[in-house]
Amino acid sequence: MPARFTVTTPIYYVNDVPHIGHAYNEVATDVLARWHRMRGDDTFMLTGTDEHGQKILRTAVAHETTPQEWTDRLVESAWKPQLELLDIANDDFIRTTDERHKVGVRIFLQRLYDAGWIYHGEFEAEYCVGCEEYKTPGDLVPGTGEYEGQLVCAIHSRPVETVREANYFFKLSQFQQQLLDLYDARPDYVQPEHVRNEVRQFVAQGLTDLSISRSTFDWGIAVPWDETHVVYVWFEALLNYVSAIGYGVDEEQFARRWPATHIVGKDIARFHAVIWPAMQMAAGIEVSDHVFGHGWLLVGGEKMSKAKATGIEPRQITDVFGVDAFRYYFMRAIAFGSDGSFSWEDLDARYHAELANGLGNLASRTIAMVHKYRDGVVPDVAPVPEVAALLATSVERADAAIDRFQIHEAIEQAMRIVDRLNGFVTEQAPWVLAKDDAQQEHLDAVLATLVQGIGTAAILLAPVMTRSTQALWAAVGGEGAVRDQPIREAAAWRGTGRVETIPPLFPRVEAQ
Ligand code: MSP
Repeated sequence: MPARFTVTTPIYYVNDVPHIGHAYNEVATDVLARWHRMRGDDTFMLTGTDEHGQKILRTAVAHETTPQEWTDRLVESAWKPQLELLDIANDDFIRTTDERHKVGVRIFLQRLYDAGWIYHGEFEAEYCVGCEEYKTPGDLVPGTGEYEGQLVCAIHSRPVETVREANYFFKLSQFQQQLLDLYDARPDYVQPEHVRNEVRQFVAQGLTDLSISRSTFDWGIAVPWDETHVVYVWFEALLNYVSAIGYGVDEEQFARRWPATHIVGKDIARFHAVIWPAMQMAAGIEVSDHVFGHGWLLVGGEKMSKAKATGIEPRQITDVFGVDAFRYYFMRAIAFGSDGSFSWEDLDARYHAELANGLGNLASRTIAMVHKYRDGVVPDVAPVPEVAALLATSVERADAAIDRFQIHEAIEQAMRIVDRLNGFVTEQAPWVLAKDDAQQEHLDAVLATLVQGIGTAAILLAPVMTRSTQALWAAVGGEGAVRDQPIREAAAWRGTGRVETIPPLFPRVEAQ
């Protein structure tokens, strides 16, 4: 039976249009999903939108419309088009306003209630609507500017609001020991290491019960046993991961897809690695496979955000450099798990050095030489052993890096092949060999080596650059779709034995 790989992005708040921070998260998840599909795993990628709660409600009101109309508009005009723009091959898209989600949430909640994990109580707490999260004093920092003298949310730099309500509570505090045991028994459950440490420390300090309903507004899913309350937006949102795959309704689909791996920004790792597993334990379903908390795209040292007007839209970049370069740049330039700063200069430099001069040039030179010296026919001989060995180890290392979510390392392995082949061309100087009758077999081996290596790089880069790798693959004689090639056998691919000339894969971009 093929291995199962169910992978999810967070569901995005649709109070505004997406920026490259969201795109970063979508692309990374998509690369992992594509890689697993090329392994032959039974892969399912889920993404979607988080549409309930106060934040969306207030945005809709501010725009003089209803929240349903607002979210419909944003989903159709901005969020779904972004997935298409970025070549995201998600298998499903869930909206929390979908009927299937409402059904799943109600079933899950009722089960928790019946099992005694939910009680009614009174409380007062500080709440950040931007985060849709209750804050502890430790989460707040002194405000600056117009908020001088007040405490503000460390993420949104705005004051929090005091919530005083009678609500339903989830007995989160009772899961402290089980959670600590989980982190200890499965060290790779939360990754990377610094996020795991942060989460573990947070739990070790002790947990308080969580308010999971609100009664002062109604834009949400009604609590099944008390229609005067709606479910707290985070509690509800986390359930998208199971409501999308048939929880409580389609047991067969659920058994096939669950548990999942969650790729999230580090700012929401706690929800996924503390509250969510406690909910799973309470409901008696398996705990998720992994929670990976990636870093932030920073602007001026701070998390890029629309609220702070630092959001860059993906199209601003793809219009200039193309979608493949967009995907490549963010996956390659930032170690997955660390923060990274976007800069036009860095993007431009990498585009030209690594893609145009590195990969693009290697391809065009090789194809031109096979045409010139061998009439477009790839010599049917084995690649030179030194390069053949490099291809095999690069494939193995890249594949192993993916299991550690180290996408940048996988790309680095592919680019090591490209660099080595470019060096190989310079060393071997095929144009000199071509003039020497005694060197014809040697020239055959050089050309065959180059073509083999390019095909291998095309396969390894296919999850990252969906378009140019297909063109490259076809150009070196690859048959069918490059995305259908078994990625673990990337070093041993066989093609038609003919090359085709193609237009430059990465045309030079003039500085703007
Ligand atoms: N709706 C919640 C998630 C619920 S999941 C059950 C949410 N939405 S969000 O739209 O605010 O954020 C979605 C994702 O985008 C998060 O993983 C967040 O970390 C990520 N990013 C938002 N800005 C980002 C950057 N500047 N850089 C990297 N990722 C960023 O939270």
